[in-house]
Amino acid sequence: MPTSRRGDGHPSPAAVSAVGLRKAYGDKTVLDGIDLHIPSGTVFALLGPNGAGKTTAVKILSTLISADGGQARVAGHDLAASPDGVRAAIGVTGQFSAVDGLITGEENMLLMADLHHLPKREGRRVAADLLERFDLVDAAKKPAQSYSGGMKRRLDIAMTLVGNPRIIFLDEPTTGLDPRSRHNMWQIIRELVTGGVTVFLTTQYLEEADQLADRIAVLNDGRIAAEGTADELKRLVPGGHVRLRFSDPSAYRSATSALGAVTRDDEALALQIPSDGSQRELRSVLDRLDSAGIEADELTVHTPDLDDVFFALTGSAAALRSDQPKEDAR
Ligand SMILES: Nc1ncnc2c1ncn2[C@@H]1O[C@H](COP(=O)(O)OP(=O)(O)O)[C@@H](O)[C@H]1O
Ligand SMILES: [Mg+2]
Repeated sequence: MPTSRRGDGHPSPAAVSAVGLRKAYGDKTVLDGIDLHIPSGTVFALLGPNGAGKTTAVKILSTLISADGGQARVAGHDLAASPDGVRAAIGVTGQFSAVDGLITGEENMLLMADLHHLPKREGRRVAADLLERFDLVDAAKKPAQSYSGGMKRRLDIAMTLVGNPRIIFLDEPTTGLDPRSRHNMWQIIRELVTGGVTVFLTTQYLEEADQLADRIAVLNDGRIAAEGTADELKRLVPGGHVRLRFSDPSAYRSATSALGAVTRDDEALALQIPSDGSQRELRSVLDRLDSAGIEADELTVHTPDLDDVFFALTGSAAALRSDQPKEDAR
């Protein structure tokens, strides 16, 4: 099994590792050879526009459908050889809620406890704990169909946690949520990870991946177009710059001639210098200012954000948004 090294020097098994996963529906190739390596205890975000194949990847890795090719291990179990082992170790919160609207939140929880064969008392204790943890105690006795979108998602995740999974798949957990519920969900995800759970998350929102994920993979045209930390991805694309601002117009003019190729903002007395944000490039800017005896009032380094990354990597950037979520069509 692939392993990665933790800081303490002990190898920690990968939560998910996949090589060459493929899936087609008819003659439409959805996944065209996907490799993944997700260390235990981390958050991984699979980022892509609608129809990119995110849900397909989640369904394969959670044994709901089978791949046409490739291999994967989840929680140490081979997907094909030991699907039951995989199922016992994971929880899945799908894009469509598993919540039964006709019964109460508490009844939904107890149903899950039954499905996991917990003894009655243990089931009631686990349900009560989770309802408390997800701030659903007041709503516990009400039919779940009366819940808000955010409450339903919380109940959905609480239900997933009844089985005490080590790896959780969250398929677009915040699509369609208002900003406040979205931030609540982010907090919940962070707490899961603090508790040692590995989170595999899909999202259309760059900001969400940026906020939550240790590593991000951008899915485009059935392939991983780029993979890395948010910072690594941002470094892949141009758009970074250093911005210098002056209050003294003559210092501004001297800097303009000392620095050469810059973008000027005469009104704000600000200069923009293309830069990858590295120490070496920063030093060279500062050295040139120093030797001309110029002092800037403000220096800021701007790295490109994940929007820039997606624009650079894919042709369908318009499908991805980093602002307010909207209801997913699917
Ligand atoms: N059961 C299916 N039969 C045929 N096509 C499907 C099926 N499931 C998904 N697809 C197609 O596969 C592509 C990827 O779908 P999906 O994995 O749901 O994308 P995402 O979750 O990224 O929005 C889409 O073009 C979709 O129409
Ligand atoms: Mg989907």
